[in-house]
Amino acid sequence: MYKIAVAGTGYVGLVAGVCFAEVGHQVTCVDIDEKKVNVMKSGVSPIYETGLEKLMQKNYAAERIDYTTDYNSAYKNADAIFIGVGTPERRDGSANLSYIATVARQIAESIEKDCLVVVKSTVPVGTNDKVEQFIQDFLVNDVKVEVASNPEFLAQGSAVHDTLHAERIIIGTESKWAEELLMKIYKPFNLPIVSVNRRSAEMIKYASNDFLALKISYMNDIANLCELVGADVQDVAKGMSYDARIGNKFLNAGIGYGGSCFPKDTKALENIAKQHGYELRTVKAAIDVNKDQKTLLYKKASKRLITFNGLKVAVLGLTFKPGTDDLREAASLENVPLLLEQGADIYAYDPVGASNFAKVHPEGKNGKGNITYVTNVKEALDSANVCFIFTEWGEVKAVTPGKYRELMRTPLVYDGRNIYSIDEMKEAGVEYHSIGRKA
Ligand code: UGA
Repeated sequence: MYKIAVAGTGYVGLVAGVCFAEVGHQVTCVDIDEKKVNVMKSGVSPIYETGLEKLMQKNYAAERIDYTTDYNSAYKNADAIFIGVGTPERRDGSANLSYIATVARQIAESIEKDCLVVVKSTVPVGTNDKVEQFIQDFLVNDVKVEVASNPEFLAQGSAVHDTLHAERIIIGTESKWAEELLMKIYKPFNLPIVSVNRRSAEMIKYASNDFLALKISYMNDIANLCELVGADVQDVAKGMSYDARIGNKFLNAGIGYGGSCFPKDTKALENIAKQHGYELRTVKAAIDVNKDQKTLLYKKASKRLITFNGLKVAVLGLTFKPGTDDLREAASLENVPLLLEQGADIYAYDPVGASNFAKVHPEGKNGKGNITYVTNVKEALDSANVCFIFTEWGEVKAVTPGKYRELMRTPLVYDGRNIYSIDEMKEAGVEYHSIGRKA
């Protein structure tokens, strides 16, 4: 078993650290935030992620994992240091690498024995060559250090499961030593490993995420056409999915993809291409479709209602997908301000995301409109004039069509996640608008 340090305790770093401990490695997670470190030591996860806390507590009790702000002590004797810090999007769409650079410098100044630095964060192709050079330039002790790429494929909400049962582990190395060490570190996971060079590994991450984003945008594009020609996108997707070359996943049309990955990684790859004088037309199309898709239902409802001024608007779901409290690039963040500008009286429900949303739109008067956060679907729907569904939470899916009819003043529903069958809603007397299906 190996001595592993992990830099950054966000989704990528913390989940990786906990899973390395779970398979038996000795792990120290490093974060600059002392409060967060103390919270983690007490067995509480700073992120909402199924199963994570239990594994944190189990491995902390078994003394296989610890948390610290003291990077020097964590790095100096590590066999491998995994970097999982953020690479947020800059205004021009490129990736901001300043967190990676800070960690790289700390590593260079700390390590006292040969060490493999493994970058899990999503970085533009070629970055890890630079990270390696940067570490060499600042290296204090006479030790061997090499950088490997090991992109992460976990999805929020199922991060622990995705890591322990990954479909593949990608390792990108430039030497036999690095390749063999990473292979040994991952051996206890007993998962398929694809070993390539460093730049290919970096590219695999972007190419995978952007392909999935493209798949979603393609289905959204087809959905919009389905509406015009009188087809049903769910039936179309079902028919397509029997072709193994297409597969049955990520074919759900809706109000566009959100989250911290697809929007950022599509723009980043487009940017990388631009820097090389190439236009990545397919990815650009995925970005364009997604932009329009997010406010599609608002635009439809605007035509139907003329104004939202003074109307009670129920909003069900605020997060970018169920199973997370993350709001990044969520459709709600685009639609709620539009509704508020129009003077809507919003009653918003989300089982976990409401307090984060309230940081952006505090409860009460917001410009011409008003927003109230409620703790159940019934309160949101009660006497509402119109309802928008932005996230397919289980609590939202559990609402029967009859409830909309019973609770709302006018049962008018705009569903961005195609939760209900058109016939059921019609039978219940609900005016129902969804994506890619005839109303
Ligand atoms: C995504 C990828 O799925 C992971 O493989 C990847 O590791 C991760 O990004 C990352 O780069 O870190 P995540 O952003 O957590 O994971 O969420 P997804 O479940 O992929 O959903 C992204 C968005 O696409 C959501 O807004 C979701 O509602 C939307 N989506 C997904 C659709 O609109 N239709 C679909 O069929 C599937």
